[in-house]
Amino acid sequence: MRAVRVNAFGLDEVVETEVNDPVPAPDEVLLRVLACSLNYRDLLVARGEYNPRYPLPLILGSDCCGEIVQVGSEAATTGLRVGDRVCPIFVRGWITGPPTRTTVKSTLGGPLPGVFSELVVARADSVVPVPRTLDPLDAACLPCAGVTAFSALSTLGTVRAGDVVLTIGSGGVSLFGIQIAGLLGARVIATTRTPEKRDRLLALGASEALVTSGPGFGETVRRLAGGEGVDHVLEVGGVGTLPESLAAVRPGGTVSLVGVLAGSQGPIDLRPAVMRNLRLQGVFVGPRTTFEALLAAWLPSGLRPVIDSVYPFSRARAAFDHLASGRHFGKICLVPDGA
Ligand SMILES: NC(=O)c1ccc[n+]([C@@H]2O[C@H](COP(=O)([O-])OP(=O)(O)OC[C@H]3O[C@@H](n4cnc5c(N)ncnc54)[C@H](OP(=O)(O)O)[C@@H]3O)[C@@H](O)[C@H]2O)c1
Repeated sequence: MRAVRVNAFGLDEVVETEVNDPVPAPDEVLLRVLACSLNYRDLLVARGEYNPRYPLPLILGSDCCGEIVQVGSEAATTGLRVGDRVCPIFVRGWITGPPTRTTVKSTLGGPLPGVFSELVVARADSVVPVPRTLDPLDAACLPCAGVTAFSALSTLGTVRAGDVVLTIGSGGVSLFGIQIAGLLGARVIATTRTPEKRDRLLALGASEALVTSGPGFGETVRRLAGGEGVDHVLEVGGVGTLPESLAAVRPGGTVSLVGVLAGSQGPIDLRPAVMRNLRLQGVFVGPRTTFEALLAAWLPSGLRPVIDSVYPFSRARAAFDHLASGRHFGKICLVPDGA
């Protein structure tokens, strides 16, 4: 089968290549992949910046939607059938509750083989059925970016109707954040560093969209939220934007620490968090039950993920370059050639 693999760390080593077909174990199903989506993590994994000890060569990718073409003997007891459409969850075996210290060792696309391949094996307890009415491209956007935004705002964040949520940038997680906050009845203040994206953030449902060009936007957001600040921040920037998030959030509010686009290490003044009873909540995607809860909320809503572009596997390197450029708005998808 064809797969997108990194042979040695570095984007120049991201190639579409022939690999052996996987064989499902008794507790696994075999999927024919219909669609995949990229996450920022894939970029970090390919560059060796996520974990330089990941085994190589490595098939990349965490998110896909596929059709079951074979069911292992034990997997048959779960009710999964040939022809069912499913998405594998990002963390194999994480069904519900908080993560454990071994959770990070069971993630797809490093250290486990990824899903950017024509065929994928997945453990039967670690797939979520999706209806055929859901476009496979849309479904492939959900497992990481969608589930993470839902975890941050709903499962862990308990955002309520009338709350004000701050989102940062226009990547996959943040755009799901705007849509999910809207579903929960919250008002969204969005930011972007790219003036051309502002109108699209408003069209997606943000009530305000600030074009930011550096430090200082936290105070503007606080004022826009009525003076005390926003109830919740979906913080995808990390160290580079956390001071702004701390300035923007109201006393007693929550900052969901999701990403590190603007850096993961560096000095930070934590006094605002202490003095204003802030809750800093780390968010690591979510278990299968959170994916199921997202689907229950998402499917009746009629919402669609924002898909920036779709590339065939044979142009995977171009897709990775596009993600690295930061010019995208929403999700970048991959499909097997000819699919
Ligand atoms: N914790 C988890 O479980 C989890 C799950 C998924 C993702 N993540 C993390 O969350 C972050 C976002 O992921 P993603 O997949 O949504 O990324 P993405 O799609 O690559 O988002 C990129 C967008 O973010 C904005 N951005 C980029 N660099 C920035 C910076 N230095 N400061 C402010 N904004 C910046 C840009 O939007 P504008 O042009 O609009 O500014 C850019 O288009 C990543 O760090 C990722 O690793 C974590």
